[in-house]
Amino acid sequence: MDNQLDHRGYWDGDTDTNTMGSRSLESMAAERFNRRQTIMGTLQASVAAFLGTSLLAACGDDDAADAPTVNAGQDATVAAGRTVTLTGSATGANGTAWAQTGGPAVTLTGSGDTVTFLAPGVAQDTQLTFTYGASSGGSTATDSTVITVTPATLAFTAVAKNRNDVVTVPTGYSVTVLMKKGDPIAAGVPAFANDGTDTNWAQRIGDHHDGLAYFGLNAAGQKDLTSSTRGLIAQNHENIDNQYLHPNGSTNAASGPRPASEALIEIEAHGVAVTEIRDTGNRQWTWVQNSSFNRRITPNTPTVMNGPARGTDFLRTVFSPAGTNGRGTINNCAIGVSLWATYLTCEENWAGYFRRPNSGATSDNNNRTARELTSLRRYGVTSSIGSYAWSTVASGEDIFRKWDARATGASATADYRNEPNQYGWVVEIDPYNPAAAPRKRTALGRFGHEGAWMGLPVSGQPIAVYMGDDSRGEYLYKFVSAANWTPADASATDPLAIGDKYLDTGTLHVARFNADGTGTWVPLVFGQVPARPAVGVEPAYTFASQADICVNTRLAADAVRATPMDRPEWTGVNPANGEIYLTLTNSNATARPLNGTDAANPRHYNDPRRPAGAPDLDENATVSQLGNPNGHIIRLRENGNSAAATAFTWDIYLFGADNVDADPVNVNISGLDDSNSFSSPDGLYFSRPTNPAGQGRPLMWLQTDDGAMTDRTNNQMLATLPGRVGDGGARTITNRGAGGATAQQATIVGANATPATVKRFLVGPTECEITGIDSTPDGRTIFVGIQHPGEAGDAARPTSNWPQSQTGNRTGRPRSALIAVTKDDGGIVGI
Ligand code: FEO
Ligand code: CA
Ligand code: CA
Repeated sequence: MDNQLDHRGYWDGDTDTNTMGSRSLESMAAERFNRRQTIMGTLQASVAAFLGTSLLAACGDDDAADAPTVNAGQDATVAAGRTVTLTGSATGANGTAWAQTGGPAVTLTGSGDTVTFLAPGVAQDTQLTFTYGASSGGSTATDSTVITVTPATLAFTAVAKNRNDVVTVPTGYSVTVLMKKGDPIAAGVPAFANDGTDTNWAQRIGDHHDGLAYFGLNAAGQKDLTSSTRGLIAQNHENIDNQYLHPNGSTNAASGPRPASEALIEIEAHGVAVTEIRDTGNRQWTWVQNSSFNRRITPNTPTVMNGPARGTDFLRTVFSPAGTNGRGTINNCAIGVSLWATYLTCEENWAGYFRRPNSGATSDNNNRTARELTSLRRYGVTSSIGSYAWSTVASGEDIFRKWDARATGASATADYRNEPNQYGWVVEIDPYNPAAAPRKRTALGRFGHEGAWMGLPVSGQPIAVYMGDDSRGEYLYKFVSAANWTPADASATDPLAIGDKYLDTGTLHVARFNADGTGTWVPLVFGQVPARPAVGVEPAYTFASQADICVNTRLAADAVRATPMDRPEWTGVNPANGEIYLTLTNSNATARPLNGTDAANPRHYNDPRRPAGAPDLDENATVSQLGNPNGHIIRLRENGNSAAATAFTWDIYLFGADNVDADPVNVNISGLDDSNSFSSPDGLYFSRPTNPAGQGRPLMWLQTDDGAMTDRTNNQMLATLPGRVGDGGARTITNRGAGGATAQQATIVGANATPATVKRFLVGPTECEITGIDSTPDGRTIFVGIQHPGEAGDAARPTSNWPQSQTGNRTGRPRSALIAVTKDDGGIVGI
């Protein structure tokens, strides 16, 4: 894999030179040449096999004078991902055939004179040779053609920054809106009225579409990971816009009491949905309301606790005195897809949903141990009433009561003081089995989980899972399985049992980034992790067990002096070389002050923006945004490319920046321009290696969750062609803080971006965030989440009418939704 990436000429974006002077295959296919080719004696064995001995034997005439003439057409050059048509011509032939005789194997479709194939993804110019043969009587003739495949390019025109209330995609692409907030996914559930009267959200699509994955089904409705025409979408529903969920907004949202009917809607609009979708022809996707696969997992759905924390005191509640079970999942943000085709949903900002004031007369502090309080405060379980005050529903029903995490009963099994410990996990779901309870994988640690992406598997070696913890100053983690990878497990009939094998036993690590471009994975293993030192009013915290480390992972990472990062979000793995990417969304001046930068989080600067409400054309950017408001993307290469490596090298792949007002040397370090500037990278996803976009030099998609540069554009998605760790070099930048104070910071940066390697593909509607992405295996459809359009408005004054506005209707409440993006010519999206 390394040697594929050593052709650095391509890594600067100069991808078009090899197509110069080449003629299109379409023009060639229409032509017929008369180049007489070798006759007799040189027929390639593969062509002979294809023509068939019976055909040759059937013709008894041995006269060479009757030999056919053949022409395989002219050599050509095409980019990866294009469909290539080979058309041969022959005279005096009884039969003709094509066969591949050189280069990486491709599948030829068709027969006789005309066949087609899909140009594979390549990291460098790669020659494929094809031979065309004809027979007549006892004579045969062949001719060859060489197709040079060049690395994929971002073959679309960049979408301009804009603040329109639609999803904008490049010319030649189309958007189909699929499952929207509230759409019914069970038989008999009424269509969504979108006026606040809708009920039964456990059978409707939830709100705030986030991370997602596509799982294929064959025509018979059975699991088929290769299918690109029918499948299941599993998607997270991270949060809610409660101002749009009821006729006139929430009742008593700030302090309660909440009506039970409203609280139930809000609870059930969270979680995960699994929905069947079908291509009704030429990528015209629709969803199936009454599919038996459809499923909602809400905060009320039974779950199972697995791994080291299972059955420990940390997880005991009145609902599960044994600490083995729980209910539901909440604030599901990024995802992973396991090597055995399960969905890994990640619980992010769960802490704020609970009522547990940290001071005052209603606090439970006096009933808590010092250790519990240290844990609760470190995770931010300090809300006076809970985000939506669900526990204030007067009925006291258990599904509402559990959001009151105060220690009010006689013991932990008499109340829900431990309910917060039931969240903050990676949760494994078998999307194909609606009856299977989700399993919470406590071995992977408890924090504000973002992506959980697996490294490239190697048979007989452990597998690695890379995970971000999304808060300012939190850490990057890696879990290494105890079990070694057995490829047959990828197709096991009980995939959750495979999850038990790989995800319940292993070693959790946290990353420490060194200034010299190296880094260390520090194991978080009981007996090896020292006490977390006293911090402020908190006493030192000594770990009691591995379960303690799994539940209080942030404390353990503090104790081993992991590197605090600028909001670690999604992780991704380059399918061609195994390098690991991590988005660092942004930070502020408190978490990343001028004198608090380091090599891996090197910037502190001001990105001025227009005041909120200022006219679009007002260039008077007067509001200061100090810290690292635009974020960056770091990437790692494991030593020895090994999942179990304890050390790695790193560099910073890209720096977000507002190219219009950023210092071009010290802030816009990657050299972004109008075609590719972005802020606050969040979603990150490599194209699947099952199609050319994920091969050779894979395409990586970036999605933004931006509040800093939204005076110039709505949130967006970019297509990128990353190089590799080390393709840039060391750099020292000058940071500039409030009042003009400066500080120097050394770092390690990747190669500059160019318009050819980073390009804006999509801009979303008003006040949305772009969240979640996957593609069909063939890469010809991508699915993207559009979250919280119009989040700043309310039912009386919606600030967005999307998705109605996508087709020109500028009325109605906005709805989060899933979209499918396809290329009008049926090609692979992005290349
Ligand atoms: Fe849900 Fe970290 O974004
Ligand atoms: Ca996110
Ligand atoms: Ca700006």
